[in-house]
Amino acid sequence: MTQTLQTASPAAGPDGQAAARDRGGTAQPMLIANHLKKYFALRSGMLGGRAGEVKAVDDVSFSVRKGETLGIVGESGCGKSTLARLLMHLIPMDEGEMIFDGDPVGTPSGLTLRELRRDLQMVFQDSYSSLNPRLPVQDSIAYGPRVHGMDRISARDLARGMLDKVGLRPDLFGARYPHELSGGQRQRINIARALALSPRMLILDEAVSALDKSVEAQVLNLLRHLKRDFNLTYLFISHDLAVVRHVSDRVLVMYLGQIVEIGPVDAIYDAPRHPYSKALLDSRLALDPGERIDEAPITGDPPNPANPPSGCRFRTRCPFAESVCSTTMPTLGDEGPDAHLVACHMMAPGSGHSRAAGRTGAQPCPVPAL
Ligand SMILES: Nc1ncnc2c1ncn2[C@@H]1O[C@H](COP(=O)(O)OP(=O)(O)OP(=O)(O)O)[C@@H](O)[C@H]1O
Ligand code: SF4
Ligand SMILES: [Mg+2]
Repeated sequence: MTQTLQTASPAAGPDGQAAARDRGGTAQPMLIANHLKKYFALRSGMLGGRAGEVKAVDDVSFSVRKGETLGIVGESGCGKSTLARLLMHLIPMDEGEMIFDGDPVGTPSGLTLRELRRDLQMVFQDSYSSLNPRLPVQDSIAYGPRVHGMDRISARDLARGMLDKVGLRPDLFGARYPHELSGGQRQRINIARALALSPRMLILDEAVSALDKSVEAQVLNLLRHLKRDFNLTYLFISHDLAVVRHVSDRVLVMYLGQIVEIGPVDAIYDAPRHPYSKALLDSRLALDPGERIDEAPITGDPPNPANPPSGCRFRTRCPFAESVCSTTMPTLGDEGPDAHLVACHMMAPGSGHSRAAGRTGAQPCPVPAL
């Protein structure tokens, strides 16, 4: 499938474009990830022999609805960025498939990577290294449209229009180089660059994390307006749990390469069901002087991702671990895009965990206080 850039440029009107490019209809998720897997080989010694593998993303499945913001949280090293890079096809997946608006990606009859990158763009944390230091920023923004066939003058006009959209006057900022801008201004350029191809979805990987709080608030505000104006769908990765709550419709919690919980943002934040999600969210309170808690909400370091625990990967840090937790990996289930799902034996009737024993209904028990 091919689309011309001209019909999809911001000048054509974002709402009209979005409707024209909505191939699957409103009920079709924007993105479906099925059983994604990425193991990185570990090398050791002078000869670089294979010494094992890091299970960075291990059988991850989820979907993102059109127009929503799905937040992704989890400790450092749990696989958030690897997942983002897999979705962007910046690195090859070992297993799994991705479906974008109903079309499989990278199969003979599906979307090509070039087509995917028109529709799906990413903004990274490091605003400086994402930009070519030798190009004026308006040329960096125009680069994508040029590669996709737009003539030089139209691409320059588009770039200057995008500068305006992200709140930077083109006459003042267009000819500057990245080192002549502040971090917040550079991140606006990166957002403009990502939007120059009129994507339908943005992956934001710690995109505001390096900014100071006042600039972060401005950029978040900008993202909110752009989402509305361009009818965008966001995947928002951040270690800042407060920001994720603020921007997300749903939240996905990762632990050691796997999803442990996914659901509507208020359900996850107000009543987390997985002991890891609860501990992660309690860590906010541990940092808040007004709500200080005495006990550390989560103890111990994350296990070695090259040798994760058998069964439930959280069991070595979970106060509720029982024998079933070491023998059987809990599954998330699949109950539709709005469901609050959790991968924990305590929440699965008949799993063999004492806290789940005898439970016959679908109602989960609350996570006991840690
Ligand atoms: N190219 C690579 N080669 C080997 N291991 C890698 C590579 N990239 C990532 N990893 C490993 O994969 C795991 C997941 O890394 P990833 O960067 O996805 O984590 P993250 O959740 O984004 O962490 P952070 O919050 O610190 O950004 C880590 O154990 C990391 O060391
Ligand atoms: S499955 Fe077992 S170890 Fe894992 S979170 Fe649930 S109770 Fe804890
Ligand atoms: Mg990361």
